[in-house]
Amino acid sequence: MKKVTVSAPGKLHLSGEHAVVHGKPAVVVSTSKRMFMTLQNAELRSQNSTRISDLRKKDIFVNEIIKKVEGKYKTSFKDTLSLTIHSDIPIGSGMGSSAALAVTLVAALVTYLGRLWSPQEINELAFQAEKLKHVNASGSDPTIVTYGGILWYRKELDFLKTFWLLPFKFPKKFSPFMLINTGREETTGDLVTHVGRLREENENAFILLITQIEEITRQLVKAIHDENEKQFRPLIQMNEKLLEKMGVVSTSTQAFIRAIEKAGGVAKISGAGGIKNGSGIVIAAHDDLRVITKVAEKYKYPFFQTILGGEGVRLEQVTV
Ligand code: MEV
Repeated sequence: MKKVTVSAPGKLHLSGEHAVVHGKPAVVVSTSKRMFMTLQNAELRSQNSTRISDLRKKDIFVNEIIKKVEGKYKTSFKDTLSLTIHSDIPIGSGMGSSAALAVTLVAALVTYLGRLWSPQEINELAFQAEKLKHVNASGSDPTIVTYGGILWYRKELDFLKTFWLLPFKFPKKFSPFMLINTGREETTGDLVTHVGRLREENENAFILLITQIEEITRQLVKAIHDENEKQFRPLIQMNEKLLEKMGVVSTSTQAFIRAIEKAGGVAKISGAGGIKNGSGIVIAAHDDLRVITKVAEKYKYPFFQTILGGEGVRLEQVTV
C-alpha cells in the first residue's frame, strides 16, 4: 500500500466528564470538526508531511500509539513512512484532539497493514495509548471519536466498558450551541489527577457529587430524547455548578459563565476543564446567540459553531 487517508471527528462532553472516570455515565457527542490524516510511503511525501521516525522521537504519545499497533500485529513500521495531518479540532481544549489523533493514527496504520477495518479494535488500541497520556482515562473520548453520534458511555472496570449509541439525533429544534475557547494551561491528565486527589481527601462528599452528576446526565439524555429544550437548559447550568464544586473550572471561566447566565443564557465547560487560567471549551446556549458572542468578545475569547453528531472514524482514500 502506498497511501491511506482517514478522518475522525472531535467531540463534546454534554454531561458526565470526570464522573465517568469514577464509574458514572457520560453523554458525549461527536462534532463536525474533523482531523484528516494521511499515511504514505516516502516517495509520495508532500511538503507538509513528517517522517514517522521523527514524530516518534518528538512526541511520546505518537510513539505510544505506533507501539500499540506494532505490538498487536507483531510488526515494526518503516522509518520511510510519513504523516500529514490537517485538523480543525482545537488542540488541548476538551474537544478530543488527542483522541482524534490516536484514533486516526491507529486506523491509518491498521489499514496500511491491510488488516480488517474494525472500529472496536481501533477504539481499544487508541484507548490503550490514551491511558498513557490521560493517566486514568475513562475511554469515553476515543469511543465517541471512533463511533460518532451521541453516546451513553460508562466504564465499569478497566476491561469492561459499556456504551450505547443513542438511536436519536441532537434535536434540530434546539437552538445551536456557541462554543467559546477560554484556553487552558493544564493537561487532561493533570485535571484527572487533581479530581482523583479530591476523592482521596473526602470520599463521601465526592461520591455524593458524582451521584448528583449522574442524575443530571440521566435527565439530560431524557430531555434530548424528548426534544425538550426547556428541561435541557437548566440541566446544563446545574451540571456546570457541580463541575465548579469539583474544582475544575477556573475563577475567570466561572466569571465568564456567570456573565452569560446574567445575559439570559446557560453555559458549561465541556471536557476536563482547567483551573489556573482558562478551562478549555465552554458550550453556551441562548435564544439569541448574538448575546453570547457579545459576552465572548468582551472577554476576548474566540468563539465558533459546530454541527453535532458527526460521523465517526472514516476511511477517506486508499492508494494501492
Ligand atoms: C476528557 O475529555 C474527559 C474526562 O472525563 C477524562 C476521561 O473521560 O478520560 C475528563
